[in-house]
Amino acid sequence: MVIVIGNEKGGSGKTTTAMHLVTALLRMGFRVGTLDLDVRQQSFSRYLRNRRRMCQEMDIALPMPKHPQFRPFGNDPFPLVNAIGALSAATDFVVIDCPGSENILVRTAHAHADVVITPINDSFLDLDVIADLNGKGRCDGPGVYAEMVKGQRRKRLESRRLGQDWVIVRNRLSHIGDKNKQNLADKLDQLCGVLEFRVTPGLSERVVFRQMFLAGVTVLDLDEPCFGVADSKSHRAATAEVCHLVRAIHLPEVDQRLALLEHTPGRRAPALRNEAEGIGSPPFRLPPLVTERFASPAAHASQ
Ligand SMILES: Nc1ncnc2c1ncn2[C@@H]1O[C@H](COP(=O)(O)OP(=O)(O)O)[C@@H](O)[C@H]1O
Ligand SMILES: [Mg+2]
Repeated sequence: MVIVIGNEKGGSGKTTTAMHLVTALLRMGFRVGTLDLDVRQQSFSRYLRNRRRMCQEMDIALPMPKHPQFRPFGNDPFPLVNAIGALSAATDFVVIDCPGSENILVRTAHAHADVVITPINDSFLDLDVIADLNGKGRCDGPGVYAEMVKGQRRKRLESRRLGQDWVIVRNRLSHIGDKNKQNLADKLDQLCGVLEFRVTPGLSERVVFRQMFLAGVTVLDLDEPCFGVADSKSHRAATAEVCHLVRAIHLPEVDQRLALLEHTPGRRAPALRNEAEGIGSPPFRLPPLVTERFASPAAHASQ
């Protein structure tokens, strides 16, 4: 199954969502292949590189996807088609992270997607690439990104008789129920029938989501004993949010496995090498703010 994380708007949370989805799938025991189509910034590849490096330095074994370095060849879509084919044959899920722009590779990936996941920031500016709204909020047609999704979907249906599920994920949700949040929810509800997508709440605005890149970890990894992160309300809430998002995508065989992950994320992971061997590993220090956030009850109140 091919899952594409896309949105032409940069900074909407594609890479963050991709990393969390991939980690969740790996921790549920699925085989996962990944591709980074942001060939310039390569944030997804670099996130995974940081994860691999941290594992080596700490002598631990966090679950890793199969991540071939994808090198495009001009405007030729076939290297991508081949890479998707090879990964699909070897894994249960292929997760593709797209750049915040449109090109032949992005279109090709969308045409191969069984599921398209589109994180958007909770702002009407971000909604503009999904729907062309007039001053009164009436939809005059699809936005540029929705137009592209629609085109690739049609192509996929006509050439291969395959459908596609499109899930819009509201990212960086505020913790308070402000008017903008409600207006956006109402507008997305109105648009989903017209533009044929589903909407699900994604990740809240949390400092922790901005702090884990250098360590290459996600909130689903922080329960590993080597990180020494104290259990906390905030940690559990962030974990629950990720699990809720993964469940809402409705992937096959996920529900039962997710129930296990939700309760004790780290413990259910493929065992850490040191833990399995009964050797105490030196505690890994996450960037200080992460630890503070999770450890300090005062900090939780502000989350
Ligand atoms: N839920 C969240 N809470 C706080 N910060 C977030 C959240 N999701 C993403 N971010 C931050 O927003 C920025 C853009 O996220 P990123 O995943 O790189 O987006 P994209 O891949 O769409 O460009 C990054 O600095 C990231 O750490
Ligand atoms: Mg990105």
